[in-house]
Amino acid sequence: MAGPRAVALLALLALPVPAAAGGPAAAACDVPPDGRFDCGPERLLAREGCEARGCCYAPAGPGPGPPWCFFPRGYRSYRAENLTVTAGGYTARLRRVVASFLPGDVGSLRLDVGLETPTRLRITLRDPARPRYEVPLATPRVGGRAATTLYGVQVNQDPFGLVVYRQRGGQVLVNTTVAPLFFTDQFLQISTCLPSHFISGLGEHLTPLVLDTAWTRVTLWNRDMAPTVNLYGSHPFYLGMEDGGLAHGVFLLNSNAMDVLLQPSPALTWRTTGGILDFYVFLGPDPKSVVRQYLDVVGFPFMPPYWGLGFHLCRWGYSSTDITRQVVDNMTAARFPLDVQWNDMDYMDAKRDFTFNKKSFKDYPEMVRDFHRRGLRYIMIVDPGISSSGPPGTYKPYDEGLKRGVFIQNATGQPLIGKVWPGPTAFPDFTNPETHEWWHDMVKDFHNQVPFDGMWIDMNEPSNFVEGSQDGCPNNSLEQPPYVPGVFGGRLQAGTICASSQQYLSSHYNLHSLYGLTEAIASHDALLRVRGKRPFVISRSTFAGHGHYAGHWTGDVSSNWEQLYYSIPEVLLFNLFGVPLVGADICGFVGNTSEELCVRWTQLGAFYPFMRNHNDHGTRPQEPYTFSPAAQAAMRNALRLRYSLLPFLYTLFHRAHSAGETVARPLFLEFPKDPNTWAVDRQLMWGGALLITPVLEPGKTKVSGYFPAGTWYSLAGVCAPCCTAGSQVAARGACASPGQWILLPAPLDTINVHVRVGHILPLQEPAFSTTESRKKGMALVVALTLDGFARGDLFWDDGESWQTFERGDYTEILFLATHVSDGGWRGASRHGAHLDGVLLEAVTVLGVTSPPRQVLANGVLVSDFSYRSDTQVLKVPVSLPMWEQFVITWF
Ligand code: GLC
Repeated sequence: MAGPRAVALLALLALPVPAAAGGPAAAACDVPPDGRFDCGPERLLAREGCEARGCCYAPAGPGPGPPWCFFPRGYRSYRAENLTVTAGGYTARLRRVVASFLPGDVGSLRLDVGLETPTRLRITLRDPARPRYEVPLATPRVGGRAATTLYGVQVNQDPFGLVVYRQRGGQVLVNTTVAPLFFTDQFLQISTCLPSHFISGLGEHLTPLVLDTAWTRVTLWNRDMAPTVNLYGSHPFYLGMEDGGLAHGVFLLNSNAMDVLLQPSPALTWRTTGGILDFYVFLGPDPKSVVRQYLDVVGFPFMPPYWGLGFHLCRWGYSSTDITRQVVDNMTAARFPLDVQWNDMDYMDAKRDFTFNKKSFKDYPEMVRDFHRRGLRYIMIVDPGISSSGPPGTYKPYDEGLKRGVFIQNATGQPLIGKVWPGPTAFPDFTNPETHEWWHDMVKDFHNQVPFDGMWIDMNEPSNFVEGSQDGCPNNSLEQPPYVPGVFGGRLQAGTICASSQQYLSSHYNLHSLYGLTEAIASHDALLRVRGKRPFVISRSTFAGHGHYAGHWTGDVSSNWEQLYYSIPEVLLFNLFGVPLVGADICGFVGNTSEELCVRWTQLGAFYPFMRNHNDHGTRPQEPYTFSPAAQAAMRNALRLRYSLLPFLYTLFHRAHSAGETVARPLFLEFPKDPNTWAVDRQLMWGGALLITPVLEPGKTKVSGYFPAGTWYSLAGVCAPCCTAGSQVAARGACASPGQWILLPAPLDTINVHVRVGHILPLQEPAFSTTESRKKGMALVVALTLDGFARGDLFWDDGESWQTFERGDYTEILFLATHVSDGGWRGASRHGAHLDGVLLEAVTVLGVTSPPRQVLANGVLVSDFSYRSDTQVLKVPVSLPMWEQFVITWF
């Protein structure tokens, strides 16, 4: 029970530790090195300076390691007073009892603890006297307090600290008493110990799935940066695992430049440069629930159009419509599926948005219409920087934008001018409602000329080729804060616009990392209004909540094996962040790919939720048809496999959209009780049913994968020809309990995909686009458990109308395979809309232990079923309307 009993004012360590000359008492400095918290965050201190802060000094070796100057035990900062019960939870006043060593202490704070739901706690620290910037993300409004909670909270009075623990078992999840709280104007810091070393999240970075707690600094400040340091997006959310497979999550709703420091005790320090401290703690208790609880706060993912899950092809350097058309023709001639053809900046006139080159792209509208006639879709790049250098009256987006006041302003109230691809540019302020209207009008004007289907929004960190602006930046505390997180370039303005430039809602200093999200929202809304259909937006820059509006590609990755691997944790992390529509540039963007790398990347890319091959200009071509016949065959297989699985993938997206699930999923989400899965990031799952084990190294024809306890069937031979009656099935059990590492054959034409028992996958015969494949025959792969059970589902609608689920204009079919009293098994379905004409043509059942004597489809004898006792696979060719209920029985 989280009644008043759960919150107690404790007077644990309230002993003042004065900052005496010579430093604190030796006993107070007796802190194990791994548990030391840095007392010199903003600069390196010598002994004297350190001890003047009342801190302990103990030089250690060079490189990452314990801080030399650290807080003694009991270091005082704030004291909690007047803890009282509110309608939503608790409130208290925090009073600064000892001045901090940074400027702008907020002397008095208001603490609010909201017992929002049984599994969600919100903790906010604000300045009650002076409202400060808060992230304008709409989060759930909660009236009262949860009657019972999985968590308990304790407040430590002096020094102030909060402890959040599990009611059951008492595991402490958050304990901020480990280091002092800082709340100054531009430096806010709070530390906590962690229940384990398994912590995942805190994007966007090039990291393994599990973060390293050995003195790691993770910086969040959106940046146009080839993947190394602070990257394009900010997601201040982590998921932590606990003993026994329980999980919790913490989200700091703050968009300022920040560092998150991890240390081996294990502990974590949030260090941000503005805003307020606004935390959500999610109690799970399992990792899937943690993700859903996080998405309850930031929003469930948008539902992509069906065609968005097909294959996308792009490169920088398709310099004319002739070349772009030729690419599509080449794909068709080489018999590769393609759903969406893209263009990079090449289509633009002088690299300006919402224009096209009237020479090289003179038949641009006609080209797009031709693609549509062929069942394809079309997407082009749009950059946020609006060219500002032309004479007035020559470029409508700038002229109109100026008139309507949509641009971010510099210190003199004029549009801030930076430099991006077209030269001098102004930056639309997407926090301004008028900018949304203007953006919509520009999108609409352009769409009236070129009927594109989706938007690729790039450079939206925002990226700037000059530091700050063409005129530099003013010298003020926003440009030079007392503490600068570990941003690449060492200054907040590096690679972007001035921090003190002014936006509608606040300074850019506060809003910077929201730039991509706000542009994504404006683009999503504009597309919806202009096309009247489900919007499709892919953005480079992201922030928490992005997945509700758009997808993400992982930016300028290099064509090398290391980045092939890193794409898996990136894709998995973005799924935890609620951005399931994510993928890396297949075959790599920067540099030349090799044939082998490109084959392996296409195989893995077939399992990115967003599958696009994109390439830099000037590098070797990497369209699938540019490789040897053997490589092409391997890529074709991978693409056909993906297209076969699209009904399943689409259903996973529906579950993400309607229930806050992940699409591409780390193994630990499905098997949290098996700690061997926790760090697995060279494999991924699709939903709970498919395990993908790609080859990530050159020259390998075998790959090792972890198979959690249970039986897994290889999909090889089951899927690609799934709808062709009579095809061979070569499924086999891959492993049995307990979980183990298995070395799998993986010649160049193979990607290992395994089905988990208990699942039924809906498949469809592949075609050259989803326009075609959606009309083809369907199939089911049924992987029976030992006791003959399996289930699965299919979500189906027209694939592109807005809010079909919300309006009830869809079909959801539940497939069940279950032991029935007459000794057989059966599948059953409910019927609904949009499946007219689609037939179920094949059912492949894995794990049928004895040869069936008879198979019936809706009571009618099926005479041409096949069964192999070596593989225990039953294959039943049928011809059943998907829009009606059916029963297949074998005994
Ligand atoms: C950026 C994008 C890249 C694009 C290029 C040119 O580097 O990340 O994908 O091709 O700009 O527009």
